[in-house]
Amino acid sequence: MPHDPAVKIIKKQSWGDYHLFRFETPALAAGAEPGQFLMVRVSDTPFPLLRRPISLHAKEKNSLEIFFQVAGQGTALLAQKKEGETLDILGPFGKRFIPDTNALPTPAVLVGGGRGIAPLYFLAMELNKLGARVKVLYGGKSRTDLPVREKFEKAGLDIVCSTDDGSFGHHGFVTGLLESEIRRQEPAILYVCGPDPMMKKTAEIAAARRIPARISLESMMGCGFGACWGCVKRIRRDEGGEWRKICEDGPVFWADKIIWEEKE
Ligand SMILES: Cc1cc2nc3c(=O)[nH]c(=O)nc-3n(C[C@H](O)[C@H](O)[C@H](O)COP(=O)(O)OP(=O)(O)OC[C@H]3O[C@@H](n4cnc5c(N)ncnc54)[C@H](O)[C@@H]3O)c2cc1C
Ligand code: FES
Repeated sequence: MPHDPAVKIIKKQSWGDYHLFRFETPALAAGAEPGQFLMVRVSDTPFPLLRRPISLHAKEKNSLEIFFQVAGQGTALLAQKKEGETLDILGPFGKRFIPDTNALPTPAVLVGGGRGIAPLYFLAMELNKLGARVKVLYGGKSRTDLPVREKFEKAGLDIVCSTDDGSFGHHGFVTGLLESEIRRQEPAILYVCGPDPMMKKTAEIAAARRIPARISLESMMGCGFGACWGCVKRIRRDEGGEWRKICEDGPVFWADKIIWEEKE
């Protein structure tokens, strides 16, 4: 199993509750792909016992980046780490976002809500390199919840933002922005990550318009590599559903295969 017990943080950026770490790790970076995630030990003490799953946000030759929001004790401890300190990391794990080559001439639209934008930067850069037309829709509660907007812009990516309170960009949910984008030009495919209600609404929009959509799901994770069954989700199969592991079979699934009811 890929494991680097002493990954050195070479760059840290913080915006309130949001943090970005870049670390040098040729071993883990080698096979890293968009949509995969790392299992990060958040402290040097036995507490908390479980590692936390964090998506790959960006990759350079020998380095990886993660972008995360403090959600509880584990991520708060992780946020205290400083440049020069080390992290114990397992991974990358999970199935990647498959770039749909049919999308090359028509836009692939990436929809990220809050911290869900994290895996979409890596994907956007890959799609861009493949020659796809990429449009990124980035939604947050307020303007301070869009900390990596400028990073997309600096990379030359087409990005449009929304805020729930109207303090920046489109006033309303990112799903509203998606609906106006679809009226303007129908995307070839959607790639989505964000809070469950936003992903569920996006899946409904995609189904109504028959637009293929790949969604990256979250769940609590015990191990991250298929051993504990702590992360299961019901995924549609034939007329029924079957339990699938988000860590191993996902986290990326086709939107029309996801059964959302259990979490509501
Ligand atoms: C595949 C995957 C990739 C992820 N990528 C990122 C990322 O790139 N950036 C980022 O900021 N976060 C990401 N997350 C979410 C992140 O793992 C959780 O926020 C983190 O584990 C919370 O740990 P904590 O100890 O801070 O909070 P806890 O004290 O454990 O929980 C705080 C709150 O968050 C909820 N929560 C905890 N873990 C999860 C989870 N895994 N999914 C959904 N809700 C959870 C709890 O129910 C509780 O309400 C990802 C999760 C998964 C499964
Ligand atoms: S987190 Fe252990 S099986 Fe998925």
